[in-house]
Parts: sequence; C-alpha cells; structure tokens
Amino acid sequence: MSAVLAEGAATAAVAPQAGSVQAPTIALVLLGTGVVGGALLKLLNTPAAASVRLVGAANSRRQQVDPVLLAQRGLREQLKSQGSVRDNAALLAALDASGAAAKVIVDATASASLASRHAEWLARGYHVVTANKALAGGELPGWRALQAAAASGASYGDAATVGAGLPVLSTLRRLRGCGDSLLTLEGVFSGSLSYLFNQYDGSRPFSVLLREARSLGYTEPDPRSDLSGEDVARKLLIIARNAGFALGSDEVEVESLVPEALRELDADGFLARLEELDEPLATRHAEAKARGSVLRFLARLNQRGRARVGLVEVPATHPAARLYGTDNQFALTTTRYNTQPLVIQGPGAGPEVTAQALLGDVLALA
Ligand SMILES: NC(=O)c1ccc[n+]([C@@H]2O[C@H](COP(=O)([O-])OP(=O)(O)OC[C@H]3O[C@@H](n4cnc5c(N)ncnc54)[C@H](OP(=O)(O)O)[C@@H]3O)[C@@H](O)[C@H]2O)c1
Repeated sequence: MSAVLAEGAATAAVAPQAGSVQAPTIALVLLGTGVVGGALLKLLNTPAAASVRLVGAANSRRQQVDPVLLAQRGLREQLKSQGSVRDNAALLAALDASGAAAKVIVDATASASLASRHAEWLARGYHVVTANKALAGGELPGWRALQAAAASGASYGDAATVGAGLPVLSTLRRLRGCGDSLLTLEGVFSGSLSYLFNQYDGSRPFSVLLREARSLGYTEPDPRSDLSGEDVARKLLIIARNAGFALGSDEVEVESLVPEALRELDADGFLARLEELDEPLATRHAEAKARGSVLRFLARLNQRGRARVGLVEVPATHPAARLYGTDNQFALTTTRYNTQPLVIQGPGAGPEVTAQALLGDVLALA
C-alpha cells in the first residue's frame, strides 16, 4: 500500500509537458530491455509505431525518462551504464506528463514482482501490455485481481504471453464472444521442447541435442526453465482461464524432465551432468518407437477441467507428430468446432514475433 501512495505522490509532483511538444496518441514505458524488449525498441523506430512515443525505459537496475537520451540509438547499451536508479513512480510520472490519450506500460521482463503490480496499474487507468506470464499464469488470486482491475476499463494486452503472439487468445475470446465454449485443449506450447522432441530420434543422446539447442539459443541459458514444464503450465493456465476454467496453479499436473538429483544444482553443475537425462529418455523413446509412436511434450486440458503437462507418446498420425523446428501447436475443440479441432500452429517463440505481438496490443489502444 505504501508503494502505491508513493507512486501517486510522485505522479502529482511532475508537471505535464505543456505546449511545445504535441501530446502523442500513445505514451509508452518499457520495462525490460533484454531480447524481447530490445526487439520492441527496434519496432518503435519504424513507421508502424508513429503514433507511439517512448517516455520511459528500464532494465532491472537503471531507467531513463529523458526524451533526448530515450531517442538516441543504443538505448539498451546506454542503460547498462547510465540512467537513474529503478523507481516505478518516476516512470508513471513520465506517462502522466505525456498528456497522451492512452498511457501504456509494456512488461517485457519475467519479473514476478513487476507482474504483481499489473492489477494495481490497470486499476489506476494505465493500460498494461505484457510478455510476462507471472501474473495471468500464476496463482489464482492474482488472476482474479487482474480480472477485477481490467473491469475498470484499462486494457490488458496479453497476446505475447502465449505462442509469442500466434492468434490463440484473440481467437478464443472471439469464439467466446459468439457464445462458443472451449471443451478441450491440446498442444505443444514450448518452442524449445518442440525443437528437442521434433529432433530426437534416438540416433544421438538427448544431452547432445540439448547442448546443441542451447548453443543455437533455442533454450534458456539454464535449460531447466524449459525442461521443468513450468513455463508450459503457465501458458496452459492462461489459455484455460481465458476460456472460463478458473484453475489454480496447483491443479495442473506437471511432469518435469529434470531428474530430482539435478534440481537443486546451480546452472553450471546441472550443465555438467546433462548425460543423466539420456538413459530414461532413451528408454521411453525406444518403447514409443516399438509401437510406431513418437514422444511429444504436450499440454492437455480435458472437458472436466483436468490439466496436465508432460511427455506423451503419440502416434505418427497425431497432429503434434508432424511439427517442425520450434513450432507451437494449439488444438482447440469447442462446442462448434467439435468434429475436428481448430488448430493454430506456427513459430511460437522468437524476439521479433514476440515484440510484434506487444506492438500489436499497444496499437490496438489507439
Ligand atoms: N524470448 C522469447 O522468444 C520470448 C517469447 C515469448 C515470451 N517471452 C517472455 O518475454 C519476457 C522477456 O523475455 P526475454 O527473452 O527478453 O528475457 P531477457 O533477455 O532475460 O530480458 C529480461 C529483461 O528484463 C529486465 N528486468 C528484470 N527485472 C526487471 C525489473 N524489475 N524492472 C525492469 N526490468 C527488469 C532485465 O534487466 P537486466 O538487463 O538488468 O537483467 C532484462 O532487460 C519473459 O517473460 C519471457 O518469458 C519471451
């Protein structure tokens, strides 16, 4: 509560930029200048974003609200050594001072503490556009707070949280708006796990493939973030909740591919023992192959609301058996799409498409 008051006080203390600078249609504060945030900064310099003015940007340690410095190229690099210390109040004050019709905070971080502010920002009238799944895909009370705050009129742009902007959530909302309802959901929601199991044919140890995928940038620096299944579970929760299933995070059964003994190690310790993944996966692969099937890391939600994320043996005719590269796949069975599922498939990761999903949600505010 004290943080809320502090932000409000600083907001009131900053004078609006009057007269000389014309108010933009959309004023934007960017939180996170990493892979996705950096790609968004590039998009903001294109004609497509002409209606958007960047009024603040921050990484985890520093931030910038000076219009001259924000306009300079190399802002990401600049923030590594220059700028003031992190203070959300000053960023919100920059939004208020812009005089813009729409004021938006873009969260391109994975920070749970920033995500925990989303509902409060919405309630205060700021739009929030996010690639950060920690709130919508986190504990159920957080999701409920988000719903309550969004009812106040500010928008929550979440296209980037699932499938890196593939039209999954927008399609689901459109169907629901027409009175259709989700019955079941199944798919491959992780680009890295898609790549790993699309490639894994038993000819090379899984650890070799994993090291290769990591060096190509297809996994997180610590691949346990992907292999644990937790990120997939968050995406499943976001889709299910948007479809009207009020699922708690403890209601998703998650099969981690990380053996118990490797879970508490530091990242280097884990990377040094990747070979311990090989034997159990080789056994499962051989069993699947003997039955003419393949392994896929699937997320599933059935009609009774039972949700599970884990490794599944699927026949060669299954849609997920025919995926390529890092593709994601979302198969939705609904009241009206009930003989064949509605399938949405395509690249479900990558900075450019994710940043584009963020920009799309921002431009929709105009
Ligand atoms: N990469 C993809 O293809 C992809 C696709 C879909 C969704 N996403 C999601 O997008 C988000 C960002 O991913 P990424 O790949 O860009 O991660 P990243 O490269 O690790 O960048 C994260 C950024 O967030 C900043 N940050 C952390 N805490 C912050 C705070 N409290 N205030 C301001 N900035 C903070 C970091 O600052 P420092 O630089 O100081 O550490 C860094 O700039 C994640 O939630 C991810 O799950 C990513």
